[in-house]
Amino acid sequence: MLKTIDTVPLDIHGKLAIEPGTLFTYRIHNYDDALLKKLTLFSKEGFGDTGTDVWWLVPAIRHGRAYVITDEKRTTIAALALLISDFERPTTVYLAEFATHKDYRGGGLGAHFLSTIATDLSKAGIGKLSLTVEPGNLAARRLYEDKLGFIQVKTVKDCFGAGEDRLVLELPLKKIDK
Ligand SMILES: CC(C)(COP(=O)(O)OP(=O)(O)OC[C@H]1O[C@@H](n2cnc3c(N)ncnc32)[C@H](O)[C@@H]1OP(=O)(O)O)[C@@H](O)C(=O)NCCC(=O)NCCS
Repeated sequence: MLKTIDTVPLDIHGKLAIEPGTLFTYRIHNYDDALLKKLTLFSKEGFGDTGTDVWWLVPAIRHGRAYVITDEKRTTIAALALLISDFERPTTVYLAEFATHKDYRGGGLGAHFLSTIATDLSKAGIGKLSLTVEPGNLAARRLYEDKLGFIQVKTVKDCFGAGEDRLVLELPLKKIDK
C-alpha cells in the first residue's frame, strides 16, 4: 500500500512528537478509508478550506504522485506532498500541495522531505520540479529558494483568484541512474 522511500534521520530536530528515526517517507500507491481520512484531515489542518478533499486526493495518488511522512503504524501524518505532471511540459512535475505538521516545522523536515521527493523524481527521469508560492509565505520561500535552490521564473497575478498572486518557482533536477 505504501512504499518506503527512506527514513527521516535523527538530526532533524524541532518539537517532534515522534522521534525522527521512527518516521519514514513513503510514496502512496494504494489507500483505504482510514488513510484517506487522515490525509484529508491533515490537509485541512494545514490549508483550511483550501485543503484537499478525496475528490482531488485520490486522482493525485492514482494518476499523479503522493508522498507522506508517517510512522509505521500511521499514527501521525508528519508531512504530505501531492504532485501532478504537466501536459505542456512532459518532463516537468508540478508540486500542487506541500505541508509539514505544525509541530514539526522549522526543524528541517520540509527540506528533508522535498529533497527526498526530488531524488525520487530524478530517478523516474523527471527533469524539473515546479511550484507556486504566495510571495508573503516566508517559511516556504526560505525552504524552496534558500535551502533547496528553486529559482523564481515569474509572478502570476490573480493566480488563484482576485488578489491571490503567486510566484512560480522551478528546480532543475539532476539526472540520477535508477
Ligand atoms: C512551508 C513548510 C512546508 C516548511 O516546512 P518546514 O518543515 O518548516 O521546513 P524546514 O524546517 O526545512 O525549513 C523552513 C525554514 O523556514 C524558516 N522560517 C520559518 N518561519 C519563517 C519566517 N516567518 N520567515 C523566514 N523564515 C522562516 C525556518 O527557520 C527554516 O529555515 P532554517 O532551516 O534556515 O532555520 C511549512 O511551514 C508548512 O507546512 N506550512 C504550511 C503549508 C504551506 O505554506 N505550504 C507551502 C505552500 S507553497
